[in-house]
Amino acid sequence: MTIQGSRRSASLIRRAAVIGSGVMGAGIAAHLANAGMRVLLLDVVPQALTAEEEKQGLTLADARVRNRLAAAAVGRMGKAQPAQLYDPAWTARIMPGNLADHAAELGEADWIVEAVVERLDVKREVFAAVDAHRRPDTIVTTNTSGLSAASMAEGRSESFRRHFAVTHFFNPPRYMKLVEIVPTADTAPEVVSLLREACEKRLGKGVVIAKDTPNFIANRIGTFGMLVTLEDTLGYGLTVEEADALTGPAMGRPKTATFRMLDLVGLDTLLHVVDNVRERSENPGERAVFARPAVLERLVAGGRTGEKAGAGFYRKIKGKNGSEI
Ligand code: NAI
Repeated sequence: MTIQGSRRSASLIRRAAVIGSGVMGAGIAAHLANAGMRVLLLDVVPQALTAEEEKQGLTLADARVRNRLAAAAVGRMGKAQPAQLYDPAWTARIMPGNLADHAAELGEADWIVEAVVERLDVKREVFAAVDAHRRPDTIVTTNTSGLSAASMAEGRSESFRRHFAVTHFFNPPRYMKLVEIVPTADTAPEVVSLLREACEKRLGKGVVIAKDTPNFIANRIGTFGMLVTLEDTLGYGLTVEEADALTGPAMGRPKTATFRMLDLVGLDTLLHVVDNVRERSENPGERAVFARPAVLERLVAGGRTGEKAGAGFYRKIKGKNGSEI
């Protein structure tokens, strides 16, 4: 079934695949499962097994996926990360696995969402594999925070390019209302309509159609504000709690306004987002604001990438939160 000539409805999206099972991939998979879809959740990077996992005979990638998925589903990723499934029993709708072993099953998916690390080279590699295995009518979207959609689709088949767009979910995907949809010049209008319908009617989101500019709309503005707050916080000698209190409830915004939000997003991901605007913006003033903050580089180099690592601006030790900068 091709997009052209047949008006598909979003209700026909029954099977989805999410590639990348980190903070966003696990959350998106959970929310697609909330909408009744069966979801194949695939990961790409095997990492070291724990001794316990070795004893259980798990493969590297399967262990990684299961751990992250379970943590996301039951809300164990930290206080700031609420459970993302409406019903924990719905983990049964999500099948985790390693991309290398399950690539052929991508052909069963009506919608494939890519949510791997924010690097163009890595995403392009994933899309080459997806292009080889998808059905001709499978819709493919990326959750990129703001990399060039056109560059991601470059070199892919015509069918892929017609069915490809950005669906930028916000963190956590179950709770955040906005999805930015970013088509490329090649995306079929029917695909944009279908994605809008799926996001609005099935996932309960509000949709903004954005242009393919660095970091689209929300991240371009939001990250600018984050960086200015970070600079001012350090400049005025405020603690992270003081900055969160001042930029949060005192201004009618949530407690997660600045530093808690950065920990939730992931400081490594923020560095990628910052680099993307600095390297692609034509505005010298903007390029200056999007310089890499030294404190972020220091924390990331020390492994403190935020909630997902158990420590970022806030350190979480045995469930108790204390802060450091
Ligand atoms: P994460 O760091 O939690 O997970 C990254 C995923 O990429 C993992 O599945 C990991 O196994 C995989 N990965 C890492 N290095 C790889 C490599 N060299 N090759 C292949 N796979 C690799 O990241 P997160 O936060 O889930 O971000 C995923 C995407 O979503 C990124 O494009 C990010 O910009 C975007 N995003 C992130 C948001 C956030 O608040 N964290 C919000 C909206 C979009």
